[in-house]
Amino acid sequence: MRNDGLNEIRERPTEDVTGGTLLRALGYSDLPSVIAIERRSFSTPWSLAMFVLELSKPSSICLAAHGPDGEIHGYLVCARYDKVWHLMNVAVTPEMRRRGVAAALIGGMFERSGPGARFTLEVRESNEAAIAMYESLGFQRAGRRQRYYQDNGEDALIMWHALSGEPSEVS
Ligand SMILES: CC(C)(COP(=O)(O)OP(=O)(O)OC[C@H]1O[C@@H](n2cnc3c(N)ncnc32)[C@H](O)[C@@H]1OP(=O)(O)O)[C@@H](O)C(=O)NCCC(=O)NCCS
Repeated sequence: MRNDGLNEIRERPTEDVTGGTLLRALGYSDLPSVIAIERRSFSTPWSLAMFVLELSKPSSICLAAHGPDGEIHGYLVCARYDKVWHLMNVAVTPEMRRRGVAAALIGGMFERSGPGARFTLEVRESNEAAIAMYESLGFQRAGRRQRYYQDNGEDALIMWHALSGEPSEVS
């Protein structure tokens, strides 16, 4: 039974996934860099406490993409609720965008979740870059949540993705 994504990730060595970008488990010591990218990426950035909470969940998949020098280029947080994975956060530092970093992070998430896993997310309907990215990776639009974002009353698009293969056995 596969029920402990983070522990599994911690056993893996760092992977060279794309042109000089490497993937590894996100750790607490990465959070200052993550917060800096978060604040440059979102109008309503997550707080440090939100990242700490997600990192503390043993079933979450939390990944860092970094360069050979260790500098963080991007990160991803995905939490499992029952049998569905929720992609909660993904961002790439502005200087490193359009180089495949987010695609590598999401590919790493798919790989670590097991065959047959299902994923969902919400994205601002105005976030054309993110929607294009998710669609390029096989996510499909599946409805909307009215006035989901409290800062400006914007709707969220709901997107889903299912990996092929037998459903993963999760508790
Ligand atoms: C959305 C985001 C994570 C994409 O990261 P990225 O590393 O630049 O994405 P990738 O380089 O892996 O892009 C993969 C594909 O997605 C699509 N894509 C990514 N950014 C795009 C953009 N600005 N416009 C159109 N398509 C885009 C393209 O198909 C791209 O492939 P291509 O470059 O070969 O054409 C990044 O723009 C970001 O951090 N934005 C701010 C935070 C955010 O909005 N996160 C998502 C919240 S739901």
